[in-house]
Amino acid sequence: DAESAFSGASNSESLEEARVVFLGAKNGQFKDVQKMLGGIEPTDKRAAGMRLNEVKNAINEAFNAAKEALEGGGGSQVDPTFDPSLPGTRPTLGHIHPITQTIDHLTEIMGRMGFEVAEGPEVEDPWHNFVALNIPEDHPARDPLDNFYLATAGVAGGDPLAATGEGEALLRSQTSTVQIRVMQSCQPPIRVISLGRVYRPDAPDATHFPMFHQMEGLLVDRHVTMANLKTVLRVFANNYLGDDVEIRFRPSFFPFTEPSVEVDFLWNGTWIEFGGAGMVDPNVFEAVGYDPEKVRGFAFGLGVERLCMRRHGITDIRDLYSGDLRFLQQF
Ligand code: PHE
Repeated sequence: DAESAFSGASNSESLEEARVVFLGAKNGQFKDVQKMLGGIEPTDKRAAGMRLNEVKNAINEAFNAAKEALEGGGGSQVDPTFDPSLPGTRPTLGHIHPITQTIDHLTEIMGRMGFEVAEGPEVEDPWHNFVALNIPEDHPARDPLDNFYLATAGVAGGDPLAATGEGEALLRSQTSTVQIRVMQSCQPPIRVISLGRVYRPDAPDATHFPMFHQMEGLLVDRHVTMANLKTVLRVFANNYLGDDVEIRFRPSFFPFTEPSVEVDFLWNGTWIEFGGAGMVDPNVFEAVGYDPEKVRGFAFGLGVERLCMRRHGITDIRDLYSGDLRFLQQF
């Protein structure tokens, strides 16, 4: 009776009522039976006591089971296919993109040499991207075919830079823009790097992508030489690519440095260009209001993707931007 009363209880109040009926300390039915033990023949007492205990345990168990079923919100209807001993499903964790990892690593290496991180906007005006960097109006680097000029003329409000007289906005084609911004807002000595995206309308292939990253470096002080530049780049390359890396400085030309070099690293027996560098051109110092007679500086710009590819043996830059997890999960 107790078992069916307990399991039939549909809520905790009716279960409690049933409990009082059978197990109540005063008038519970079990108590009544227990009292009858006194009238039993001494020879049967032991057996009767044992039986009474069995019954008591059974009633208690039935009560506990019914209570658990009610509290567990239908705990008795647990999905029979659920196996708590099976290992769980691990949530899949994302990865830090290899380029972001590279940027962190480069920042750390350059930080040990005292270079602080500076930032600049990706949408630039031609003054910062060209003019202040000594790139004249008719220079081929300004060609619309080599730059992403923004079609802002039809946009409400027009070209945001037109009002400033700074001309058409473009996606920066080099991080050298940040050199200008830093020198405009700080006085020497300066020792900064800037890591970020640059944009050039190149058709994607194994070594080109229309968006890539550069690490720009700028050091300005009173007595700075080409030897300082070469040492910093060598120490950097040894730290990032290993002690046995071979580096070559090839005479070149950039409008914003004089003299200028291209920086090559040996990669599988071939010299590969990783970027450019040189001594800051006096015209650049003049553009930012420095006295070119009083300061010297060097600057460099290296391709972050190439560095990452060289270090990890990646052969196709497009792998970095394919979003292919089989590739990305290796980092
Ligand atoms: N801005 C140059 C480029 O993108 C690289 C460079 C940076 C060269 C600084 C000299 C000094 O090719």
